[in-house]
Amino acid sequence: LKHFLTIEGLHAGLLTEILDTADSFVDMSEQQVKKIPLLRGKTVANLFFEASTRTLSTFELAAKRLSADVLNLNISTSSTSKGETLKDTLMTLRAMHCDMFVVRHSASGAAHFIAEHVTPDVAVINAGDGRHAHPTQAMLDMLTIRQHKGDFAQLKVAIVGDILHSRVARSQIHALRTLGTAEIRVIAPLTLLPRHIEAMGVKVYTEMSRGLRDVDVIIMLRLQKERMQTALLPSESEFYKLYGLTEAKLAYARPDAIIMHPGPINRGVEIESGVADGPRSVILNQVTNGIAVRMAVMSMAMSGQLKLNQQSTEV
Ligand code: CP
Repeated sequence: LKHFLTIEGLHAGLLTEILDTADSFVDMSEQQVKKIPLLRGKTVANLFFEASTRTLSTFELAAKRLSADVLNLNISTSSTSKGETLKDTLMTLRAMHCDMFVVRHSASGAAHFIAEHVTPDVAVINAGDGRHAHPTQAMLDMLTIRQHKGDFAQLKVAIVGDILHSRVARSQIHALRTLGTAEIRVIAPLTLLPRHIEAMGVKVYTEMSRGLRDVDVIIMLRLQKERMQTALLPSESEFYKLYGLTEAKLAYARPDAIIMHPGPINRGVEIESGVADGPRSVILNQVTNGIAVRMAVMSMAMSGQLKLNQQSTEV
């Protein structure tokens, strides 16, 4: 790895290496993520231009467990609010010798833009860009699925809800396909499905009763209203009636199906409270796995950078 911007185009061996590396960071006897010195002397800057609870906190914890120094730039009180451009903010942080930028931005392509403008010794990790990609979320989801279900080749996975605006769904579909998942389904009203989504190798369903039949994994998504035009906002009560995951709809899936959600969850909109907190929910396991997966991605990106820089100085 050099940067980690998207899952698209990465090969199965690399995704498996990320999962195995994440597993190696967890002390199984204590179910705790170990502290190790892989990023000692390095500085990680978390640049979150969009709100976050899970991703920001777990990136910070992951960097600290890797013994890095961590800078969380508070964008609302930073000079971005005085009109400083993204490029100037980056150059300023680079002058402070930051080694890695973890970036969340509402614009699709923001992390790619930053990766093109940093010096070659800096790694960039995408923590979610617009509706394009959220690759570390997809990888922590893959780790959670692998821990509970094992071999992807045996699995039917359904992703439910606002696929159209979801960077998480796009990254999950790329990861699930690359890891050889038997069947990937999306379930949504036509208004919340991207055009030509079938080209991503998924089966499309518009009814929960058919789409959830016999699935092993159900991934629920939030209605991402911040990316919708106000006039096109769906009615929450209508959406819940048709697509909200309730105990009754859960009965269509396999009895041992697990329930996932990247968060933040909206109870009573896309998921019933009892289902979100029930015995088949692994939503909080996903959050915990975020630390180990982000440690894996950050340490692999940093060692990739070091190797590339050694090669270029040897040439
Ligand atoms: N899943 C996710 O990205 O959550 P946050 O917005 O809280 O980081």
